[in-house]
Amino acid sequence: MERRKIHSQGPTLSRIVAGAWRWHTVSAETVERLTLVALEHGITSFDHADIYGDHSNEETFGLTLAKNPSLRNKMELITKCDIKFPSAKRPATWVKHYDTSKEHIIWSAENSLKMFHTDRLDLLLIHRPDPLLNPYEVAEAFSSLKKDGKVLHFGVSNFTPSQFRMLQTHLPFPLVTNQIEISLSRLDPFFNGDLDLMIELGVSPMAWSPLDGGKLMANEREMFGKATKYSASYSQLALAWLLKHPSNIFPVIGTTQPDRIKEAAKAIDIKLDRQDWFEMLKWVMGKELP
Ligand SMILES: NC(=O)c1ccc[n+]([C@@H]2O[C@H](COP(=O)([O-])OP(=O)(O)OC[C@H]3O[C@@H](n4cnc5c(N)ncnc54)[C@H](OP(=O)(O)O)[C@@H]3O)[C@@H](O)[C@H]2O)c1
Repeated sequence: MERRKIHSQGPTLSRIVAGAWRWHTVSAETVERLTLVALEHGITSFDHADIYGDHSNEETFGLTLAKNPSLRNKMELITKCDIKFPSAKRPATWVKHYDTSKEHIIWSAENSLKMFHTDRLDLLLIHRPDPLLNPYEVAEAFSSLKKDGKVLHFGVSNFTPSQFRMLQTHLPFPLVTNQIEISLSRLDPFFNGDLDLMIELGVSPMAWSPLDGGKLMANEREMFGKATKYSASYSQLALAWLLKHPSNIFPVIGTTQPDRIKEAAKAIDIKLDRQDWFEMLKWVMGKELP
């Protein structure tokens, strides 16, 4: 598996990242198995959020790290903060909202460290743009976490280009990614300036739901010819399609099946021809390009 810096001053990650959003639907043993299979196939970067599995997924993943502490140095841990929602685990929250206060960012990062049984996060993302975001406070929180060695790098998720630039202007170090939804079903970032900004700033995007949560597989029959040409499955082609883009997209896959992790890892070896890339685009757009 190829490893690449997500930004010249950012962490080196595996080009395909394993996402843990759905991992509360399987047992702790399967989470351990998914982690080991990912590592074995070169997927060393794991994407979490404080809230996944109603605030339980980081803790379950942490069980694997507590049991196998040597794994920590073989992986990169990414997590997110700022979404709060009513939950028995968070009794003080009565309405879903975002919180990018200095106090909450630091509390959330430190809590993630505890859940993971680790002393550092490789990358912390602001999960969703907060209309009350005060960039000076975020800068203070990030700087404090960085100075203490608790978080090595920072980024954002679901930010528009103007939100990204606004926050970046106030930080003494670069945001290294914007994790956004990109797939053959979610084409806007190719045309609305999201990916243009990433290229302009040398920031690689992370693509969440690269298979549209599995819904892409409904088009599988259309892609049969291409799958045969590349000796690949449709899910591999859909990942290879993202990997070809010059912004250096890092797809974050969401499967809960070890065999599908293995399969996804092989997508890195597929080099799609330019015309095949455009033909796949034409199929999902349902029309010729202008
Ligand atoms: N930043 C954000 O706001 C945000 C939002 C959403 C997600 N994320 C991140 O992105 C990650 C991926 O999201 P996602 O789970 O929606 O990604 P995805 O890879 O697009 O979808 C995974 C889903 O597709 C199903 N699937 C069906 N056929 C498949 C096949 N042939 N190969 C692989 N999967 C297949 C999987 O089922 P099986 O489990 O049965 O394989 C699983 O339910 C999350 O884990 C999370 O880390 C971030």
